[in-house]
Amino acid sequence: MPADTINILAIESSCDETSAAVIQNGKVLSNHIATQKVHERFGGVVPELASRAHMQNIIPVVTAAMQDAGMKNEDITAVAFTQAPGLIGSLLVGACFAKSYAQALDVPLIAVHHMQAHVLAHFIEQSPEFPFLCLTVSGGHTQIVLCRSHLDMEVLGETIDDAAGEAFDKVAKMLGLPYPGGPLIDKYAVLGDPKKFKFPMSEMKDYTFSFSGVKTSVLYFLQAQKKLDSEFVEKNLHDICASVQYTIVNTLMAKLRKAAKDLGIKHIGIAGGVSANSGLRKALTETGDELGWKVYIPRFEYCTDNAAMIGITGYYKFLNGSFTDMSVIPSARAAW
Ligand code: KG4
Ligand code: ZN
Repeated sequence: MPADTINILAIESSCDETSAAVIQNGKVLSNHIATQKVHERFGGVVPELASRAHMQNIIPVVTAAMQDAGMKNEDITAVAFTQAPGLIGSLLVGACFAKSYAQALDVPLIAVHHMQAHVLAHFIEQSPEFPFLCLTVSGGHTQIVLCRSHLDMEVLGETIDDAAGEAFDKVAKMLGLPYPGGPLIDKYAVLGDPKKFKFPMSEMKDYTFSFSGVKTSVLYFLQAQKKLDSEFVEKNLHDICASVQYTIVNTLMAKLRKAAKDLGIKHIGIAGGVSANSGLRKALTETGDELGWKVYIPRFEYCTDNAAMIGITGYYKFLNGSFTDMSVIPSARAAW
């Protein structure tokens, strides 16, 4: 291996996925993800169970990522890890592991912001031009981010309450679907009529989002309909899913269109778990065709939580000399 090769071992443990990846000179050599099934029956992530599962998963996942990449410990140039935001117990497992590994190998340590990493997932396989606008939609966040360069990003607006993924998951729960319900809503929406039921789109200023209103209106709507027909959900599942998805996707796209127009940006991407949504992907592609945007959507495994995106962010931070010392601690919330 040439002496200037940069091999980054990356760790992601912010929520309910334990992931490790090896990135060589900005290219993904391996990306292993252990998804935690334990939360399904609780209808949401249970933080304490997530931390315990991370503790069980982290060594096997890192070992698999290293082996898959054909890496030995002495080949690693730096260790990158998710420092914030996320569940604190989950973050602690990854942070402690990464700190220990870096210290044992005597290599630099790189702290990564999870939301910045979701945006930089675009740069794993593509090279969007700057300025680049990214709609990051996950279970915990909904943000429109202006990227001037790989490490110069600004959050233009975000949600004041529920995230888009959270809205999908909460509506799914009301419909009796298991967690995480977003992918199931998507699956059933394909079979339904998006205009069958009308739910309100929030009217927030600028690039601010709010999804608690749509969630509440679906709740009241279902309560009222179930009083009239106890089998309402079963009979109308596809149309309800299609209508809810239509409302959420339109809300997201309206803000994205506004930001793109206001800033005159034509390079636009979506990132985060909800960017796997087929309705959102279709809407982005169609809007791109209409407005002459060049659109970017990362491959599915780089949309949901993964360590490859932590590794690519670690790589750019490495090139920039942005290292951290051993006093670093994880943070549940963190400004960029
Ligand atoms: O980015 P991510 O994996 O984890 C967080 O950082 O939150 O996003 C997970 C979220 C969940 O809310 C999940 O329901 C949602 O992404 N999601 C979807 C789809 N696939 C995942 N929502 C709608 N449609 C999908 N196809
Ligand atoms: Zn995420």
